[in-house]
Amino acid sequence: MTIKEAVNERHSVRQYKNIPIEKETEKELREFIENISDENGLDLQFIVNDPECFDSFLAHYGKFTNVQNYIAMVGNKQYPNLDEAIGYFGEEIVLKAQTMGLNTCWVAGTFSKKKCKARVGKDEKLLCVISIGYGENQGQAHKSKPVEKLCKADLSTAPEWFNEGVDGALKAPTALNQQKFVITLDGDNAKITSKGGAMTKIDLGIVKYNFEAASGRKVL
Ligand SMILES: Cc1cc2nc3c(=O)[nH]c(=O)nc-3n(C[C@H](O)[C@H](O)[C@H](O)COP(=O)(O)O)c2cc1C
Repeated sequence: MTIKEAVNERHSVRQYKNIPIEKETEKELREFIENISDENGLDLQFIVNDPECFDSFLAHYGKFTNVQNYIAMVGNKQYPNLDEAIGYFGEEIVLKAQTMGLNTCWVAGTFSKKKCKARVGKDEKLLCVISIGYGENQGQAHKSKPVEKLCKADLSTAPEWFNEGVDGALKAPTALNQQKFVITLDGDNAKITSKGGAMTKIDLGIVKYNFEAASGRKVL
């Protein structure tokens, strides 16, 4: 599965099989996460075999079962645009995980921050986690707002790469499936902006990554 295919295949999965991640897969993904984290000055942490973080009222309320592994999305409070960076690089990891046969869910609310095993320094912040493992199912495609609400460009005359990018952006996970973003075509460049509100900066990073993965072009 390519990353572009993963954009289409990936949906949130909240119920997992009660089996550990295969050793080789875990090793490869750990290296991938560490590289992204180091190259970009973040403190992303891959935590395996810890059922406690999702053993809380909120997690059960959110219908999470058998979550044994997660990625803690931690970064320095002074990092410029930390939320957007966490979204962008987190989505890179999420799509990579999908190509490795793993399923994921971004989680900012329905986990236990107290029981989370991440090391969070005093200058750092834990923004959210990503649950990860072998899903009981593959999830379902989310309902999307109509493309006219999310994209201010004439798609009939826009280049093919832009149309592909828009398709990928509409498939991006956003908090509460809120999709509070707008995509525009500025000359030969795509721009994506956020309409503001809770979690929309993380969402913006995620949407930008999906657009780039689907179109093969950088977003401004
Ligand atoms: C930043 C962020 C935070 C999220 N927090 C939660 C959460 O606390 N609990 C939950 O069940 N889902 C959470 N989600 C998952 C979204 O509900 C889900 O991505 C959205 O409904 C779209 O569905 P999809 O991921 O299957 O495309 C979150 C997603 C994002 C991007």
